[in-house]
Amino acid sequence: MFDDTFCLNVRFLLNTQFKMIELPDNIAALQSYKPGKAVEDIFEGKNFDRTAILSSNENNLGTSPKAVAAIQEAATNSYLYPDPSGMKLRQKLAAKHNTTIDKIIIGNGSDGILSNIFKAFFRPGDELVSSAGSFVAVNVMTKLNNIPYKQAPLTKEYAFDLEAILDLVGPRTKAVYLCNPNNPTGAMISNRALKAFIEKIPEHILIIVDEAYAEFAASLSSEFPDATQIELPNVITLRTFSKAFGLAGVRLGYGVGSQFIVDTLMKVKLTFNPSIIAQAAGGAALDDAAFMQETIEMNKKGLAYYYKNFSQMQLNYVPSFGNFVMLDMSTEERAMYVFNQLLNRGVFVRPLAFFQLPHCLRITVGLPEECQLLVEKMAEVMTLEKN
Ligand SMILES: Cc1ncc(COP(=O)(O)O)c(C=O)c1O
Repeated sequence: MFDDTFCLNVRFLLNTQFKMIELPDNIAALQSYKPGKAVEDIFEGKNFDRTAILSSNENNLGTSPKAVAAIQEAATNSYLYPDPSGMKLRQKLAAKHNTTIDKIIIGNGSDGILSNIFKAFFRPGDELVSSAGSFVAVNVMTKLNNIPYKQAPLTKEYAFDLEAILDLVGPRTKAVYLCNPNNPTGAMISNRALKAFIEKIPEHILIIVDEAYAEFAASLSSEFPDATQIELPNVITLRTFSKAFGLAGVRLGYGVGSQFIVDTLMKVKLTFNPSIIAQAAGGAALDDAAFMQETIEMNKKGLAYYYKNFSQMQLNYVPSFGNFVMLDMSTEERAMYVFNQLLNRGVFVRPLAFFQLPHCLRITVGLPEECQLLVEKMAEVMTLEKN
């Protein structure tokens, strides 16, 4: 009887003022998700005979057949709760990284673990230190958690400036975030540079090394550090199944860190996360060496193909250690012009204003035919621009 309309009418008649629920300032300042077209529907209604979505650094090769089979099998057990401690998957990951299960945390994507790091370690006033022009989720999460975020500028080569980051570390620093290789620039911190940097950071400061693109970086450079092998009480390395493993949609990531860090994260983890399907998919994906090999090979060839063609078009690219390449287009206007022209030709890439790099575009390495389409359309746009 007292439905919403009735209550509204009574309030109107009584001329009472609505008082909105008050939000904390940091939440009120955030932008809510604006529903628009799903990325896969971006070309809906257009008559392109070929399209390429090269915007999110996914693995366009698809999902490992072994993971698909495991997902199908796990689907029949969906009525069950998942193992809250994720034993089977953590055991496999421990073996992969030459460590013990108590040093492995799994989560709902590596960003789920990052979010729990903020929840577990930060007290009011504690600061995070990192670089500008890096993984955008960190900016969002610091705002969400009311964490002051100090960012050093990138170097001229679009790499993390470790000296400048070190200069920002102070009495209020709780953690330092390093993205290696960096999304969106693709630049890598070498083994030697990372170790020298870590030595200078006091032990009471948490060091988060985000290695979302580790599998690609390791295949591209012997200088890639693999921070999972650094055994220090204050270091956690984050990895994901969303990129090379091709499981972005199931949401699965993991961290390798000290027992203290893992214990702490276990305290704040939502009990039944990740899902039974994600845990099964991850275990099977780890066994699919052939899929990983194909992924790595495709990426190497795709990068070389991009570099060759971008050079010919005199486009300014940053050599990458991930599955994407960043182009410096000089101005935001030019970056957006090229972005829109590509979109109008069936190719979707990532503009980087949200990453504090408005004059740049990030282009994922896709299937060979997708890379060819990008190059073909980019050449058309460059010719158009000249005329
Ligand atoms: C550097 C970096 N870290 C983490 C992630 C997110 O990983 P996940 O899908 O596991 O949350 C991404 C995805 O784009 C990334 O680029």
